[in-house]
Amino acid sequence: MSLLTDKKILLGITGSIAAYKVADWVRALRREGCQVTVVMTEAACRFISPLTMAALSGNPVHTTMFAAEAPETIPHISLAREHDLLVVAPASAQTIACLAHGLADNLLTTIALASSGPILVCPAMNSVMFQHPATQANLATIKSYGYQVLEPDCGTLACGEEGPGRLTDWENVRQAILTAFAPKNLANENVLITAGPTREAFDPVRFLSNPSTGKMGYALAATARQRGATVTLISGPTALAAPPGVRRIQVTSAVEMQAEVMNCLDTATIVVKAAAVSDYRPAKKEPHKVKKGQASLSLTLVANPDILKELGKRTKKSPKSPLLIGFAAESRDHLKEGARKLKEKNLDLIVVNDIGGTETGFGADTNRVTLLDRNGAQEEVPLLSKEETAHRIWDAVGRLMTDNR
Ligand code: CTP
Repeated sequence: MSLLTDKKILLGITGSIAAYKVADWVRALRREGCQVTVVMTEAACRFISPLTMAALSGNPVHTTMFAAEAPETIPHISLAREHDLLVVAPASAQTIACLAHGLADNLLTTIALASSGPILVCPAMNSVMFQHPATQANLATIKSYGYQVLEPDCGTLACGEEGPGRLTDWENVRQAILTAFAPKNLANENVLITAGPTREAFDPVRFLSNPSTGKMGYALAATARQRGATVTLISGPTALAAPPGVRRIQVTSAVEMQAEVMNCLDTATIVVKAAAVSDYRPAKKEPHKVKKGQASLSLTLVANPDILKELGKRTKKSPKSPLLIGFAAESRDHLKEGARKLKEKNLDLIVVNDIGGTETGFGADTNRVTLLDRNGAQEEVPLLSKEETAHRIWDAVGRLMTDNR
């Protein structure tokens, strides 16, 4: 069960050409288990048909204050009460002005005024309209009411102009919606996460590495942010975008990763080492490409620093030491090896994962892990998405924080 299962989302669509984009958001929300109800302004109905939104949401679409078929109900009050989150997207300059000034001149703005729950606003408009001091002042006003505003992207707009005003991407909206529902047990925490592989070069074009994609570490970073933490992600080379609101530092080798971890250590209250760090590096990096022609070639390797072990030695000397969470990537003797690393590296928690199989380990979107903590607790987490697995890890970290502080 994800954070979004059975959540009731009320989607308010206003008059902007970007209205067609949110049709896809409705499908994505339903795939995640949400119940979606759509409210459209008159102008929105000129850009996209209520029939399309009804078919995609699986629910009747509301467009008017006075429902002819059920005159005894007051739709703006019942709709305002019945949802968990109101998302206004795309939000036009006109609707934002109404929200800022408490104008209730259509069903959507009336619901917003009658709603006491969280409201997420995604502006989309011409860039001159967006940058106009009136719109900026209205956005500042609705933020002061506690509404969350997702800034529009910059780019070429439907009107042909370049600039800010393009409806933000679904991934940013998804993160904001998850943030609205995530427990906030990491508020005030400064979380340092490492993710992805490291690359150890032996000439300018070749390196030793491993198949880590960084998905588990990035899921931990995104979910920690959703739970209210300040997050720094030190990442080896991956194809993934930095999660919204996360500070990312990109590194290549284990030695670079070690230097960045040590730089960020002072302020960290929780450190999670999800990176697949190469244990060895070539003793020498050739300055030029090694040419073929020799019958065989041997490579001398030297050990890389064990970053986590070093942290375990350092941090436990200070009373305000961060919680230390490691991973154990194993193909056999999983629990035995996990318990050994927990002890040897002086960790608070270790996440043991199986690197074999297609459903777990490198590159998979799912994981099946066992959590072992320093107090002897053991939790088997079933096969889940890496995002849900990350939440289970943060739940366990939350329990440890309560025990240890
Ligand atoms: N780790 C690290 N620095 C290294 C190697 C590993 O910080 N040079 C961290 C990993 O990020 C992970 C934990 O140590 O959190 C365990 O890594 P893993 O690869 O499972 O084990 P190793 O310590 O490398 O031991 P082995 O190779 O014997 O399994």
